[in-house]
Amino acid sequence: MGKKIAILTAGGDCPGLNAAIRSVGKTAIVNHGMTVIGFTAGFSGLIHKEYVELDEAKLSGILTLGGTILGTSREKPFKLEKGEVFNDKPGLIKKNYEDLGLDCVVCIGGNGTMKTAHLLSQEGLNVIGIPKTIDNDVFGTELTFGFDSAVSIATEAVDRLHSTANSHQRAMVIEVMGHHAGWIALYAGIAGGGDIILIPEIGYDIKKVCREIEDRFSKGKNSAIVVVAEGIQKPENISAAGYISEKIQQLTSIEARETRLGYVQRGGSPSAMDRILATRYGAYAAELIAMEQYGRMVAVHGGVLGTIPLEEVGGQLSLVDPNHPLIIKARNMGVLFGDE
Ligand code: F6P
Repeated sequence: MGKKIAILTAGGDCPGLNAAIRSVGKTAIVNHGMTVIGFTAGFSGLIHKEYVELDEAKLSGILTLGGTILGTSREKPFKLEKGEVFNDKPGLIKKNYEDLGLDCVVCIGGNGTMKTAHLLSQEGLNVIGIPKTIDNDVFGTELTFGFDSAVSIATEAVDRLHSTANSHQRAMVIEVMGHHAGWIALYAGIAGGGDIILIPEIGYDIKKVCREIEDRFSKGKNSAIVVVAEGIQKPENISAAGYISEKIQQLTSIEARETRLGYVQRGGSPSAMDRILATRYGAYAAELIAMEQYGRMVAVHGGVLGTIPLEEVGGQLSLVDPNHPLIIKARNMGVLFGDE
């Protein structure tokens, strides 16, 4: 008899989730005769036994859709809520898994999701992880889907800031997402021709940032574009872009404006590259289930698909190496990272 599997999407959404659900589901059904269900709202659906049947018809027409047809949540079943000394969410999950006769749960998510997926596999469930996030910070893989779409959206925003910055002779500070990682800022900063790029992995000196901006204007340049990651060092009560633009106004004679790109980076249709990556990951996850290779996250290294044990993923982040070749190339072209 064919296997019965479940899919869930957990954590912040990103473009490409539906492409991944479709790929796991279709490969499981078409290539392996499996039955597929989808838990709704991340781990919450697994705890409360809330799910939908995913047949081929339900999996059609979703490739290009943003968000997730299953919904998501930040539910962490192994974490006690404030004031709680015990909860039996893991117990409920095990019971539901058994009641439903599942052979595997595919958990599509970021670092937090992979940590939970590992704990579930320690509880005896068969689990496969698929890494997604716009932040590209999942440990153990070079690339997560969602990242390429977010970089394209952020790059377009940087492109648009150039003309208005030039018209008004301003410094434009644009803040992009990324959590503790600077991947989106680095890629969109370089793709969009940012003059200064600030990422959490490289400490910056605000005086050096301001001096660079003054220098640019004194050389006859009409504008300065500063791309900042949300996770840079800053006082708590202010956004990264708010802080940097406030300092530019205080410490230079140049007018500064801030833009926080926010959730547009996570919404909408996935880029072609994200559709491809999500499809590759999803199909590979289904093949792993067919081979009964559980407790692993699908990953890509040097463009090649592989896996990494879930226990090696949780609790670690993939951050930008300050000596990343792109950073060296950008520095050699005069881009400032705030530390020199
Ligand atoms: O991890 C994706 C991400 O969009 C981060 O870039 C950002 O810091 C965070 O999620 C925002 O989370 P929330 O959806 O909880 O506001």
